Amino acid sequence: MSRLARRATLALAALAAAAAAALPAAAQPFPSRTLTVIVPFAAGGPTDTVTRLVAESMGRELGQTIVVENAGGAGGTIGAQRVANAKPDGYTLLLHHIGMATTPTLYRRLAYDPVGGFETIGLVTEVPMTLVAKKDFPANTLAEAIAVIRRDQEKLNYANAGIGAASHLCGLLLMKAVDAPMTTVPFRGTGPAMQEVISGRIDLMCDQTTSTTEQIKSGAIKVFATTTPARLEALPEVPTSAEAGLPEFQVTVWHGLYAPKGTPAEITGRLSKALQVALADPKLVARFAELGTAPVAAAMATPEAHRKFWLADIAKWKPIIQGAGQYAD
Ligand code: MLT
Repeated sequence: MSRLARRATLALAALAAAAAAALPAAAQPFPSRTLTVIVPFAAGGPTDTVTRLVAESMGRELGQTIVVENAGGAGGTIGAQRVANAKPDGYTLLLHHIGMATTPTLYRRLAYDPVGGFETIGLVTEVPMTLVAKKDFPANTLAEAIAVIRRDQEKLNYANAGIGAASHLCGLLLMKAVDAPMTTVPFRGTGPAMQEVISGRIDLMCDQTTSTTEQIKSGAIKVFATTTPARLEALPEVPTSAEAGLPEFQVTVWHGLYAPKGTPAEITGRLSKALQVALADPKLVARFAELGTAPVAAAMATPEAHRKFWLADIAKWKPIIQGAGQYAD
């Protein structure tokens, strides 16, 4: 190439770069840079596990990296607040669970709007829970565990991830069903709480299969029951709560992906399409199955289906929480 031609090529490249930089953000194809998804619980827990699998697969589909950031504490409200207050440009997202349906009633004073502060992108999965204990807990069945809980309730401790966390709701259900309150120890997520159950400093915890399955299989912890109507393929030897004599002890944990309020519909739509592709990724489906869960159907991974489901769940939990007078403040 002649010097003149090279100079012309360089000038053209500089012009193109300047033109791209001058484009308003809205005119650039989305996404044109790294995205961040906030997990409102500690690393190593069930929400973190689900989010990392989804982020990896969605990032491939979007052609950008999705960074997962943990912002745990206060039952998931710290991380949710960060996203509600973020720029509504699609680059900061939230992956949260059933807590999005209980928080609006449980927390009467929040520094963000727990419903109006978000756009929905799509549901992700619904995860069963298991009642687990430290490995030398003096019981081998749910019936034996209930007898120990009733006898030693003042000495036993139960871990959760703060008010509004799935482990908190599940613990409330358990304590109500067996009529025996225990000392509750809150963590920033069940990731760190699980380490305390494994080490034997925490007696009991209710946690999602995405966090407990491998610990149960390796014998690091004991399990008494699943909180589902049917046995789980990933844990076929574990009885359901009904089989084990506690039919009212049932709860599953749905998860969804959100953006800050005001994020344009074209962007939430693009993210929803990428989520649907991610949820059909055979690698993700296989890993979810190993962890005792499954992605939702594509029709549920849309902004509209997610919003409808979320609002219905808020309405379902409202009278339950108000009736129990169990507020976070
Ligand atoms: C977590 O990721 O730590 C959990 O989802 C917390 C919980 O809700 O129990």
